[in-house]
Amino acid sequence: MNDREPLLALNDKIVAAVTLLKAGKNVAFPTETVYGLGADIANPSAINRVYEIKGRPINHPLIVHFAEMNQLEYWATDVPDSAWQLAEHFWPGPLTLILPRSSHVPLSVTGGQNTVGLRIPDHPIALALLRALGRDRALVAPSANRFGRLSPTSANHVYEEFGNKVSMVLDGGTCKVGLESTIISFYNSTAILLRPGGIPIASLEDVLKQKIVLKGNQDIALRTPGNLSSHYAPATPLEVWPTESIQQRAQQLNKNGLRIALIVWSDSDYLSQAANENIHLFLMPADPIEYGHQLYATLRQLDQKGFFRMLAEAPPLDSAWLAISDRLQRASYNTSTHL
Ligand code: TXA
Ligand code: MG
Repeated sequence: MNDREPLLALNDKIVAAVTLLKAGKNVAFPTETVYGLGADIANPSAINRVYEIKGRPINHPLIVHFAEMNQLEYWATDVPDSAWQLAEHFWPGPLTLILPRSSHVPLSVTGGQNTVGLRIPDHPIALALLRALGRDRALVAPSANRFGRLSPTSANHVYEEFGNKVSMVLDGGTCKVGLESTIISFYNSTAILLRPGGIPIASLEDVLKQKIVLKGNQDIALRTPGNLSSHYAPATPLEVWPTESIQQRAQQLNKNGLRIALIVWSDSDYLSQAANENIHLFLMPADPIEYGHQLYATLRQLDQKGFFRMLAEAPPLDSAWLAISDRLQRASYNTSTHL
């Protein structure tokens, strides 16, 4: 079954999705960040299939999604005050908290670790699905893309990634955030940023009235395999260049007659003059929220157009752009610029 069946009303689709999930199938569902590839936390073989379908190593932990705040202490133990403060302020929302796991969370979900990633997503379909699944149940879900690739921000992207390998894709339109959740772990009560995402760190700091520690040591990086340097990558090689040198780089490649996509946000004459029959200019919003909303869909679209390379203008060095800088950096990690 898939969600292209127009005759089923939303409520019937949720009922069908719950039936499939309880029978051990995988259902992709929309969240406000990106689409997730869901499995019932109580079904070990459905969890294994998530890893198989994605091609993801089994030591990479999955996020546990649930709907009600009072379930936090069902899935986690020893929740520090700072975690409560963030949960109460930002959930439902694009924030994942890494906390000591309770005995209800299987080790297959946490990659064998004693911590678990938890989040209440802010999307009406995700919340309806989680509520229909029932109390003390949850959906484990990574982003619904093949390992290392761009996360999906529409139901069509999920079909592009997995075709019929997923039993059902619930279509919730375009994800309003478009980048994955911000991930925070805790050392005692100190909050540590493991992945920049949908919630800017300045907003977290405002609520906690403390500085968020930026992850900067190997130990934490190792515990967060999503931090593998190459990730979130399109198939077309991507390079990131500062505003001053991107035009020169495009012209250097253009000398060899190669087709280049220039992805820019600063709407300067200097950059628009760079466009010609081989250098195609794509203007992104100069606002980080809008840019984040469009980033993956844009990279996916450009990936279909047979460019030799995509060159992205480096974002401003402002913390509001941190998640975007992070994703562009990872998406470009494997590209050699010796050309
Ligand atoms: O916005 C999101 O977070 C989306 C939607 C579907 O919720 N999910 C998502 O999942 O991005 P995934 O699996 O693609 O990325 C989850 C990240 C991975 O980098 C994983 O290593 C990290 O969360 N993570 C999960 N549990 C963890 C834990 N116990 N300790 C450290 N990192 C953890
Ligand atoms: Mg992912």
